[in-house]
Amino acid sequence: MTHKIAVLPGDGIGPEITEQAVRVLTALGLDLDLQTAPVGGAAYEAEGHPLPAATLNLALDSAAILFGAVGDWKYDQLARELRPEQAILGLRKALGLFANLRPAILYPQLANASSLKPEIVAGLDILIVRELTGDIYFGQPRGVREVADGPFKGERQGYDTMHYAESEVRRIAHVAFRAAQKRNKRLCSVDKANVLETSQFWRDIMIAVAPEYPDVTLSHMYVDNAAMQLVREPKAFDVVVTGNLFGDILSDEAAMLTGSIGMLPSASLNASNQGLYEPSHGSAPDIAGQNMANPLATILSAAMLLRYSLNQGAQADRIEAAVQAVLEQGLRTADIYEAGTDKVTTSQMGDAVLKALK
Ligand code: NAI
Ligand code: MG
Repeated sequence: MTHKIAVLPGDGIGPEITEQAVRVLTALGLDLDLQTAPVGGAAYEAEGHPLPAATLNLALDSAAILFGAVGDWKYDQLARELRPEQAILGLRKALGLFANLRPAILYPQLANASSLKPEIVAGLDILIVRELTGDIYFGQPRGVREVADGPFKGERQGYDTMHYAESEVRRIAHVAFRAAQKRNKRLCSVDKANVLETSQFWRDIMIAVAPEYPDVTLSHMYVDNAAMQLVREPKAFDVVVTGNLFGDILSDEAAMLTGSIGMLPSASLNASNQGLYEPSHGSAPDIAGQNMANPLATILSAAMLLRYSLNQGAQADRIEAAVQAVLEQGLRTADIYEAGTDKVTTSQMGDAVLKALK
């Protein structure tokens, strides 16, 4: 069966890094139909819209999307709906991408990149599963109002609403349990159930879903403790599942444990495992067009694409092993360079991964 993949390179370093990931996907010998379309600022320049209808239709009609990055300061003056980042929001909405998977992996060869001691982080390999479409970010009502009574009577007050529907919690629970099954079968649900009703509800649903995954061990942790444990003993985690707000913060915290933004992939999935795969970093306009960006986050995003949308875990393992091998050979793009290693360009890094695959 041919798998159709939408390739959306985007802006800045997007095209350079996506090109290397496409070379890697192509080299695997799978039956893939890779179709490229413009997105973000590049699409605005060409067609007057960051997410043209043809690009959106291609994405909807594909098993998965390989996305580079979008954005540049030169688009800051555009109306909000024409800005490059609207393309990601539009794709998320159109495909119903509610589950954000952010691995934080620290390859042993890069242990010095972390701000934590190597013995605490070397070999770190955790996965944060963040709910992406609900929670306080989208809850209604929200706004600024005048307080009717109590100690702040007559003052203006800003407010938001946190809520999760049962089906929203159930579907992210299933994604997280399935991800845990593909890894070390330990899932930690992070909430604030000691204070928030929404969190107690979330916890109850996690517990209700757990019997469907008897091979996965479910635990619970309050978010404040989770923030501490991530820097104290991060390797104690395997898969973490949490809501949109807590996940926003914890996934950035976990990313920084690895110290190298050029290495971190991500996935955003819907209920039918259709997904958008992109590096965690942005379009890096400061280094665009110089053949010096690190393509590994995008190459590792392609590995996630194979694992989660195409159910090709063994091929994903192959790519991840090849990345590990080039690091072992001492090859480094500028962002992860340190004395005693070999500095390489974007395309040289791609060449090396291809060679290691064989
Ligand atoms: P950024 O992630 O693009 O860059 C931050 C710093 O990290 C820069 O110094 C950059 O050179 C470096 N960097 C990032 N990726 C790298 C790589 N692969 N190899 C080597 N160095 C790398 O974040 P910034 O500067 O805040 O945003 C730049 C543009 O990217 C903005 O327009 C922003 O809106 C957009 N952006 C897009 C995202 C996306 O497409 N999903 C996500 C985040 C930002
Ligand atoms: Mg964030």
